[in-house]
Amino acid sequence: MPATVVVGTQWGDEGKGKLTDLLAKDVRLVVRYQGGHNAGHTIVVDGETFALQLVPSGVLYSHTTPVIGNGVVVDPAVLLEECEMLERRGIDTSRLVVSGNAHLIMPYHYEIDRMTERFLGHNKLGTTKRGIGPAYADKASRIGLRAQDLLDPKIFREKLDVVLREKNALLSRVYNRLPLDAGEIADLYLGELAPRVAPMLGDAVALVHEALDTGEQVMLEGAQATFLDLDHGTYPFVTSSNPTAGGACVGTGIGPRDISRVVGIVKAYTTRVGSGPFPTELHGEMADILVERGHEYGTNTGRRRRTGWLDLVMIRQAVRLNSISELAITKLDVLSAFDRIKVCMAYEADGRRFDHMPYHQSVLHKVEPIYEELPGWRSDLTDATSADELPAAARAYLELVSSEAGVPVSFASVGPGRQQYVSFAA
Ligand code: GDP
Ligand code: IMO
Ligand code: MG
Repeated sequence: MPATVVVGTQWGDEGKGKLTDLLAKDVRLVVRYQGGHNAGHTIVVDGETFALQLVPSGVLYSHTTPVIGNGVVVDPAVLLEECEMLERRGIDTSRLVVSGNAHLIMPYHYEIDRMTERFLGHNKLGTTKRGIGPAYADKASRIGLRAQDLLDPKIFREKLDVVLREKNALLSRVYNRLPLDAGEIADLYLGELAPRVAPMLGDAVALVHEALDTGEQVMLEGAQATFLDLDHGTYPFVTSSNPTAGGACVGTGIGPRDISRVVGIVKAYTTRVGSGPFPTELHGEMADILVERGHEYGTNTGRRRRTGWLDLVMIRQAVRLNSISELAITKLDVLSAFDRIKVCMAYEADGRRFDHMPYHQSVLHKVEPIYEELPGWRSDLTDATSADELPAAARAYLELVSSEAGVPVSFASVGPGRQQYVSFAA
């Protein structure tokens, strides 16, 4: 049976974790295909909240094998901490498989992430400072260490010695920081972490293909989102991997024909953490309402998220970039706070209308949204379980998104809990 991709359509935190968990109830494998612990995916089950950074969102089901694919960058200490946290809370993590080809986040990646941000000054990206960009940069430069290197101390030390010579020159001569000690890093990674990570390492490509070949359902869970994509996002205000659906192939080791379903997750309004353009951004009282009602603070870094109205130019572009087959609209309940709700239908800049994303980013920086104003519904949606329990105005909102995006809406999420959703699936 072909695979399903879950992809964020905006700037992250759309509710991918919740939807992955929801869709994983019939799934054998859930594979994370990119990103690292810059992600924060929240799942709420029976009032208990689980905030996951690295472990795929299928972990909460005992029938699911969570897999960390080759496209992910892994800090083994963070991974072990997360597994311990889950075990303490009664979740079995023994099935977790980590691709041996996944790259490792090393101590110098954190330092370089922090220093690069400092040197960028007011142009800084607002990264999560988790070493993500520097780890992917080393992967592309072919000097990264991979999870499988933990199994071979000689190779690990050799690679570390070579790479640390360059990193220490950079840290001490350019950034005026203290050099790092290869022995200390090797002791930590090989001595403390490797023995505990080794049992998790495996051939993720073989595992995924065996599942596909035997007709099992496979779900590919994206982190970050379309407009944080290194190639298609609002560069340079992006992450350093490819969250778009194409990244699911590369980051897992499957081809496009192995994917039959791409579920685009759309928050009913827009949020962004960190710097970069945001045409529909709100400020003042309206922004405060969205932040408070939507609890828009980073799962991971605690930063207040920037907020704005839903932007259909972005959603149309996300449908194109990911070949999205259906949408899941999350946080519809949060919009119950408003008498009138605005939706960005197109942009305007220099007297020109843009129904699709302008390719030149200087244009994106100066566009003005063209809004359509819709009536709100002002009623509590959080107990709705079927379409006829949604007010007509909320249904009209979903219909507008679907018709403008050109794909059906399969789910509307009306609260953080696992049961809080309405399904429109046939
Ligand atoms: P992800 O990174 O895409 O997995 O999203 P996050 O977990 O970072 O952020 C989404 C937040 O919204 C989490 O706190 C979820 O528990 C919460 N959430 C998800 N769906 C809904 C919903 O439909 N309504 C409300 N009110 N909260 C939701
Ligand atoms: P999930 O999976 C929201 C943002 C950071 C910053 C930019 C680059 O929970 O949706 P990085 O540390 O990746 O180099 O930072 O990307 N960012 C996210 N924003 N949700 C995320 O993940 C994010 N992961 C990274 O805020 O602007
Ligand atoms: Mg998140």
